[in-house]
Amino acid sequence: MEKLVINGRTPLKGEVTISGAKNAAVAILPAALLVDGICTIDNLPNISDVKIYLDILTDLGAKVTWNNEHEITLDTRNINSYNSPVEKTSKFRASYYLIGSLLGRFGHAQVGMPGGCKLGARPIDQHIKGFEALGAKVDVSQGKITATAEDLVGTSVYLDVVSVGATINVMLAAVLAEGTTVIDNVAKEPHVVDVANFLNTMGADIRGAGTDVIKVNGVKKLEGNATYSIVPDQIEAGTFMLAAVASRGNILIKNCITKHLEPIMAKVVEMGGEIDEIDGDNVRVWCNKRPKKINIKTLPYPGFPTDLQPQMGVVLSIAEGTSIINESIWESRFQYTEELNKMGAKISAQGKTAVIDGVPDLYGAPVYASDLRAGAALIIAGVCANGVTEVYNLEHIDRGYENIEQKFRNLGANIERVEE
Ligand code: EPU
Repeated sequence: MEKLVINGRTPLKGEVTISGAKNAAVAILPAALLVDGICTIDNLPNISDVKIYLDILTDLGAKVTWNNEHEITLDTRNINSYNSPVEKTSKFRASYYLIGSLLGRFGHAQVGMPGGCKLGARPIDQHIKGFEALGAKVDVSQGKITATAEDLVGTSVYLDVVSVGATINVMLAAVLAEGTTVIDNVAKEPHVVDVANFLNTMGADIRGAGTDVIKVNGVKKLEGNATYSIVPDQIEAGTFMLAAVASRGNILIKNCITKHLEPIMAKVVEMGGEIDEIDGDNVRVWCNKRPKKINIKTLPYPGFPTDLQPQMGVVLSIAEGTSIINESIWESRFQYTEELNKMGAKISAQGKTAVIDGVPDLYGAPVYASDLRAGAALIIAGVCANGVTEVYNLEHIDRGYENIEQKFRNLGANIERVEE
């Protein structure tokens, strides 16, 4: 078993370059199945979710050629299977995008139940509602989701909840449908916009991504023959911003889109951190004093992202005063608080609310990552704590952060991955 061993109390200082966005990459790879041709995808993060996705695409008949560490060329002309087995799809959540793209291109998809972080109930009723509105029959049984359609015909779909996954999946199914699909009450996250931009680059006609309503004018074919570069990861950038504040460090965060970081920058300033937006792509974050208490509520973009809630929880655990976090997206995203309490934090979490009484210091302990972002949070906690922290369950962290310990080490952290 691997673990990270962190010798703490290091102010993180230096530069970090942000990788391509995980949640865009895991949607763009299946979206490429809609292309009946060749496409090149650049700024692909080197993370385990991407590797599994490329394995699945290869199983389906796609040809994957690596051009360099972060760029692939995909040839999806000879897809010969619509069936993705559960042992691969259950490893991550975003396998559900195979349904939208295979259904859209071939009128048939069979996908094993998606897995992913255990954050509470993760229904996909809105995805299914969208596929059915377009004319598909969807069956969920025996651990598989099967969707079939003679023809997909454009229609209006109103999403009852703002869902990243449903927005992207219905968009994928609509790209090659006959006529126009209007999807209302959609998610506006940067990765939703990125998937629409990728598809448009390959020949789709999607308008309105980034607003509440997306309109997809169906086209006959996506020709591809183009290169697309994945957007920088807003959550990875936010993770390092919060690490700078928690460790009272000074980090230049390179290759990010500062516009996407506004909800986080606002909270960093409220806590007493300092920010210098150098241009649209780079931001410096520093903090010389103990952060101040704040309250946050997680919300769909442009609200404060749930995927940064655990990392923010670490900062508030050592802030001055009592902070309150309201988690409005996932019902089980406070599992990390028990681990932080082992390190001396004083957090009481119940239902959707955590009350955090800031303590002056954390102390190293063995801790277990319950999910991806909990893992990132525990690394930040280890860097700030007195003594040695051991972080276990690294497979969660490796799903979504590229070279995480190397990036922290470059900032001065004393962190090693060791085999136990
Ligand atoms: N929901 C429904 N029905 C649906 C779909 C969603 O009720 O059909 C509910 C969910 O239960 C949740 C809310 O709607 O309460 C939002 O869920 P959403 O569909 O937006 O989440 P997701 O697409 O499954 C993506 C990210 C998550 C991120 C959420 C929210 C991917 C692969 N995953 O999940 O990322 O937390 O959006 O922004 O894009 C992570 O990266 O650590 C992570 C968990």
